[in-house]
Amino acid sequence: MKVSYHGHAVIQIETETHRILIDPYISENEACDLDAETVKPDAILLTHGHNDHVGDTMAIAKRTGCLVVAPYELAMYLKSRGIENIHFMHIGGTHEFDFGRVKYTQAFHGSSYIDEEGHIQYTGMPGGILFYADGRTVYHAGDTGLFSDMKLIGDLNEIDVAFLPIGDNTTMGPEDALLAADWIHAKTVVPIHFNTFPVIKQDPHAFVSDVRTGEGKVMEPGDVIELVVDSDLE
Ligand code: NI
Ligand code: MN
Repeated sequence: MKVSYHGHAVIQIETETHRILIDPYISENEACDLDAETVKPDAILLTHGHNDHVGDTMAIAKRTGCLVVAPYELAMYLKSRGIENIHFMHIGGTHEFDFGRVKYTQAFHGSSYIDEEGHIQYTGMPGGILFYADGRTVYHAGDTGLFSDMKLIGDLNEIDVAFLPIGDNTTMGPEDALLAADWIHAKTVVPIHFNTFPVIKQDPHAFVSDVRTGEGKVMEPGDVIELVVDSDLE
């Protein structure tokens, strides 16, 4: 399994058979190395409705017909905007897809979409995503503040890579993300959701050098972590 980072909170996962994009904020994301007009995911997974996470989802889904997985209210909003290939889920729920297993976790944050007319559309609860495939587990925390049930997420899952926001202001800052890393006890901890905007400016290298539990790793846009398929766990 190849897990790559593409700036802000954009993660791509390539399993043996499928390509999955999480929170594809591409065309307006200066740090992103992907091209929204040519990416060809089999599925897009969304943590919440904020524009810096939904990003190019509608255009990509309309062009490719890929499946879009999102919390119910966001999924229904996207459906109302003409996205037909939708699978809604919600916090605590797991579903087995042909590309892997997805579980939505809680996230303490908001969820709304500012549409083209500048109107705010509320899109329910935000979430985080646990993704399981090829015997491996990836956790994308979404946008969230620190919450102590991250201990439960860590105890119930053997997480290979955890993507944690460190930007502060709207999510955990570095100090809280260090505690999150302790509680999640993933093998590798990757900071996300920083430096995209002035208000979330952080030093990711300082953060990863402070990570006490697991290996902290700064990923530049386009960097890939390759996880060997663990057939014992499949
Ligand atoms: Ni957000
Ligand atoms: Mn965000």
